[in-house]
Amino acid sequence: MMRDGTRPPSRAAERRARAVALVLGLGLVAGCGRGAGEAVDAGGPDAGPSAARGQFAVAVRQCGACHQSPNAGEGVLSGQDAPVPGTRSYGSNLTPDPDTGMDAWDAGSIAASVLRSVDGDGRPLCPAMPAYADAGMGADEALDIAAYLQSLAPAWHLVPPSACPPLKPAGDAGP
Ligand code: HEC
Repeated sequence: MMRDGTRPPSRAAERRARAVALVLGLGLVAGCGRGAGEAVDAGGPDAGPSAARGQFAVAVRQCGACHQSPNAGEGVLSGQDAPVPGTRSYGSNLTPDPDTGMDAWDAGSIAASVLRSVDGDGRPLCPAMPAYADAGMGADEALDIAAYLQSLAPAWHLVPPSACPPLKPAGDAGP
C-alpha cells in the first residue's frame, strides 16, 4: 500500500492546487482594490459604511423596480401605489420620512431587513421582498445601502399596506 506522504502529487491534485492558489490570489487582489477605493473616497479602510457605495448597490440591484414611484415628483424610493405584479404587496417608502417612511429604523435593522426580508422586529416580510443574502449580498453592502437610504430626502408618500396571506392576512397588515 502506498503512503500518502511519499506519493508524488497527481496531475489532478496539482491542477486543483493551482486553481485554489489562483482563486486565493484573486481574492487578495480584489481585497486590495476595495481597500484602496475606500481610502480614496471614504478616508480610509475603517471609514465604515458609504452612502455613495450604497447608492451604486441600489442601482445595480434594481431596488427601484419595486420601491421607486413612476411619478418622480413623489421622491426617490418613496414607494409604489401599485402592487408588485402578481401580488398584493407594495414596495414600501424607503425614505426617512417620519410618518410614511423608515425614520424610526436604525441602520442595523435596515441592513437585516434587506438581507433577510424581515421587518424591524425580525418578523418575515411578504415574499415579494427578496432576501438579498440569498442573492450573495454581504453585511457590508447592506450597511452601505442602509447609509444611502438614511441619506435620502424624506418624502411623505403613503403606500398601501402589503398583504400576503397567511403570513400577513389582508386587514392585518399594519396601521
Ligand atoms: C420585487 C420587488 C422588490 C424589490 C426588487 C425590492 N423590494 Fe424591498 N420590498 C418589497 C415589498 C413588496 C416590501 C414590503 C413587504 C411587506 O411589507 O411585507 C418591501 C420592503 C422593504 C423593506 C422594509 C421596509 C418597511 O418599511 O417595511 C426594505 C428596507 C426594503 N424593502 C429595501 C429594499 C432594497 C434596499 C432593495 C434592493 C436591494 C429592495 N428592497 C428590492 C419589494 C421589493
